[in-house]
Amino acid sequence: MVKPKQSIQSHRKDEHVFLAEKFRHDDTTNDFDGIRFIHQSLPEIAVADVDISTDFAGTNWASPFYINGMTGGSQQTKKINAQLAQVAQITNLPMATGSQSVAIKDPSLADTFSVIREFNPHGFVLANIGAGNDLRVAKQAVAMTQANALEIHVNTPQEIVMPEGEQDFYWLDEIANIVANVGVPVIVKEVGFGMSVDTIAQLKQIGVKYIDVSGRGGTNFVTIENERRHDKAYAYLADWGQSTVESLFESRAFQNDVNILASGGIRNPLDIIKALRLGASAVGISGQFLHMVLKEGPTQMAENLLTWQAQIQAIMAMLGARDIQALQSVPIILSPELRHYLNERHITI
Ligand SMILES: Cc1cc2nc3c(=O)[nH]c(=O)nc-3n(C[C@H](O)[C@H](O)[C@H](O)COP(=O)(O)O)c2cc1C
Repeated sequence: MVKPKQSIQSHRKDEHVFLAEKFRHDDTTNDFDGIRFIHQSLPEIAVADVDISTDFAGTNWASPFYINGMTGGSQQTKKINAQLAQVAQITNLPMATGSQSVAIKDPSLADTFSVIREFNPHGFVLANIGAGNDLRVAKQAVAMTQANALEIHVNTPQEIVMPEGEQDFYWLDEIANIVANVGVPVIVKEVGFGMSVDTIAQLKQIGVKYIDVSGRGGTNFVTIENERRHDKAYAYLADWGQSTVESLFESRAFQNDVNILASGGIRNPLDIIKALRLGASAVGISGQFLHMVLKEGPTQMAENLLTWQAQIQAIMAMLGARDIQALQSVPIILSPELRHYLNERHITI
């Protein structure tokens, strides 16, 4: 049988998976290593008394972490979406899809996203589109996956380095329109470059209530897109952006008014707990979960994530934190580099 020819967009989805996996390393270090908790020998709590649930837009999530947007748009990524949906179903984790605009341009690809609902009909699903898409696309993306919420990603460095990327970044007006009219909660997210005080203020100003600062420290879309270029011309931009820890510092002043989510470089349950400590209300994971599903398959991955949930509860008990709110004031020490960042940016935490 002759294989149908893949569009550039579909092929890009497969390349992203391949390159994210190629550049991911088990021994990656990042800014989460610059945070230490103060050990408490007498926490006076039982593990069973710790509540790891978190609230998102009036819904209670049983765990404070979720599968962040990655896949769909090609046959290979349909299979990954199906497997991640099985994991989400077994573990009761919320799950975001990858960007769906490809399937709005080519409706024959819709099943590469809607497959999530076949395997996880009742779970919490987040649709995903890029900024620059309009309200009509946003509504179609939500309908395609019967989504409970929508992620809109902002990704200028990726578009700049991407050989076929966008060059027009007038995005705010349409994001405001979508937030006001799409009918589900909207998270505006980065894709691994982090956010500044100024960006968060701009988003708050137009009515955005949910922000995933998605910072540097894990998947790097400058490196990935640069690898897709023949001229490899942007290698020097690989360190662009704020880390997830720095972005959480930047979000500090907004954490009472805006629901701040964190992603970027999360490797294990301790990183999740550190992100929560810095003010995230939930934590998204992409590269590490892609690696797990590809290497372990959905059944083993689900088992490992049930262990992650148990470990988060156990470590919070060790810290004497009964719930996420209590966790957010346990004592920490920061590395000199992170202190320096706070000083330079005049942020107090
Ligand atoms: C293979 C792959 C594809 C991705 N595709 C999307 C996407 O379509 N939409 C989006 O918002 N983010 C996308 N991301 C970005 C992630 O959601 C996340 O913001 C970023 O990878 C940082 O998190 P990590 O370090 O845990 O991977 C993708 C990430 C990976 C690894």
